[in-house]
Amino acid sequence: MSTDISFILCSDGSHTLYNPELNETYHSKHGAIQESIYVYIEKGLLLFKGLVKVTVLEIGFGTGLNALLTWNKAEELNLKIEYHTLEPFPLSKEITDQLNYPLLMEEPASAERFKRMHDAAWEERIELSEYFTFYKYKSTLEGKTLPVDTFNVCYFDAFAPNRQAEVWAEDNFKKIFSSLKEGSILTTYCAQAAFRRTLKAVGFEVESLKGPLYKKEMTWGRKSNPK
Ligand SMILES: C[S@@+](CC[C@H](N)C(=O)[O-])C[C@H]1O[C@@H](n2cnc3c(N)ncnc32)[C@H](O)[C@@H]1O
Repeated sequence: MSTDISFILCSDGSHTLYNPELNETYHSKHGAIQESIYVYIEKGLLLFKGLVKVTVLEIGFGTGLNALLTWNKAEELNLKIEYHTLEPFPLSKEITDQLNYPLLMEEPASAERFKRMHDAAWEERIELSEYFTFYKYKSTLEGKTLPVDTFNVCYFDAFAPNRQAEVWAEDNFKKIFSSLKEGSILTTYCAQAAFRRTLKAVGFEVESLKGPLYKKEMTWGRKSNPK
């Protein structure tokens, strides 16, 4: 899928990528870093920062931006994080080496961390640091068997439903629902009504939140604690 990918400079100075086959970008053109921090770190990871260990499932590793922000947060907060990410169409090294995310982050270790995640072997448990354990799977969500009752938070960061409907199919959300622990959250930039109905149909409690940057809304799917 990664043929003829091109770079776009977002309004916040961070890169995103454009996939011509899908006519879709990897992030909001208004600001990749700002969008990722808001949707996945602030409205996802940080809700669980009081836990001894947070287990994250990411759908779509892509540029590795969400993963880098999460690793940096793990070190900043001394928070143990186990990060599982799926990516069936990895970007080439030629592309990932040019992404400017590490240069825009205050944390000087960002460049080395970013490289280590991109270089990491697939399908293996890799302890990247005392606080950050990493698993990268070269698989689609449709093709992956997920462990049950495991994750605290799911970063659902697939391309939009009108570009890749198969990733937003009900069976995928059933699978994610059973892989999440009680009290966990699926967080995503997407606010599409049909997607929200699918979340409800598989058992999530759906909440609409203010979206990132100029986007009106985003979505949480909550797997509630039993009453
Ligand atoms: C919106 S982009 C990813 C964003 C990524 N989190 C980032 O920060 O760059 C969506 C990603 O989902 C991946 N993808 C495509 N089809 C998929 C599938 N069936 N299952 C899981 N991921 C998929 C794409 O290759 C792409 O990297």
